[in-house]
Amino acid sequence: KDFVNVGLLGAGTVGGGVLKVLEKNAEKIAKEVGKPVRITKVLDRHVDRLKQEYGDKYIFTDNADEVLEDKDIDIIVELLGREHPAKEFIARAFANGKHVVTANKDVLAKFGAELFPLAHEHNCDFMFEASVCGGIPIIGPLKTSMAANQITSIMGIVNGTTNYMLSKMANEHLDYDEVLKEAQAKGYAESDPTADVGGLDAARKIVILASIAFNTRFNLDDVQVEGIESIEACDIKYATDLGYAVKLLAIAKNDPENGVSLRVNPTMIPLSHPLAGVNGVYNAVFVNGDAIGEAMFLGLGAGRLPTASSVCGDIIDIARNMQHQSTGRISCTCFEEKRLCPPDK
Ligand code: NDP
Ligand code: HSE
Repeated sequence: KDFVNVGLLGAGTVGGGVLKVLEKNAEKIAKEVGKPVRITKVLDRHVDRLKQEYGDKYIFTDNADEVLEDKDIDIIVELLGREHPAKEFIARAFANGKHVVTANKDVLAKFGAELFPLAHEHNCDFMFEASVCGGIPIIGPLKTSMAANQITSIMGIVNGTTNYMLSKMANEHLDYDEVLKEAQAKGYAESDPTADVGGLDAARKIVILASIAFNTRFNLDDVQVEGIESIEACDIKYATDLGYAVKLLAIAKNDPENGVSLRVNPTMIPLSHPLAGVNGVYNAVFVNGDAIGEAMFLGLGAGRLPTASSVCGDIIDIARNMQHQSTGRISCTCFEEKRLCPPDK
């Protein structure tokens, strides 16, 4: 085949970003992969609006069969959100021999135990970098560069919506309802934002990170969860006066004697700590490993293009694997002719 063909499920905030990145950087991506990567079909219920926006560049449909049963499609990118029918569509994609990329932490945290063996059974790749912390590479490094470590703890600001809200409440003294509306308008919040403010989204993410870091299948019932619903601007002001920032932290700790504990809760962090300075929609993850020591991963934790960056990275990995007839993550560097800036410029 001359192309790697991708079927997109969901052309909302993140799906729209994926269409944009794959089109804008098509030439570079084709060089990385060895052949062009193109989206052929898009499932979304807003077919008329999407046709108006994109014309006939893609085939839009509201019938999932048209995408999932298309024999020419190699990779399914699931960006519908929520548990159902996303989980069933992913399972069908594997049954039809298609690789899957998703950003859906709802599905991964709840049905990972069912879906990963299915992917393996059908010899398909299943990649999900965007499911935790939007644009920050954290799943990949845990699976590869840090795989030799015994991880002792992971501590992170892993929800962009709540960090945006808490930062605005602290720095601009805005109230809770106003900043939640702003975060929704910017496309950071889940379609049901109670998952963000209630800590469930962060709980899903720590389940995913801990399952990889500790090679154990954790689930949501293993996490103690408290959200930010009861926090008011005045609480944040008192904390600041005392020299602390209030952040919603997700924490996984491995105690060699007692085992792993997982929790999400608002935490007072000394202003001198690096996590205290992580503001707005930025996320950060601190990992402690017995060889690497402390490592911190920082970047934009939600939003259209940062999240699309992670999704497209996974698509490229899979497309490269297809060329090499392998699965998993392989590295590949395509060197180009040197373009050095002259010394006088
Ligand atoms: P959106 O709601 O913006 O986009 C989803 C799109 O899919 C919408 O157009 C939606 O229509 C459509 N859709 C949903 N279900 C169906 C269905 N059954 N049939 C046809 N169309 C459907 O979501 P996002 O792009 O924000 O999020 C997508 C995924 O990415 C989620 O899993 C989310 O958790 C994850 N994610 C999001 C981030 C972000 O910053 N937004 C960051 C990281 C991960 P309608 O709106 O009418 O439901
Ligand atoms: N609603 C999520 C957040 C999207 O605010 O972090 C990114 O996973």
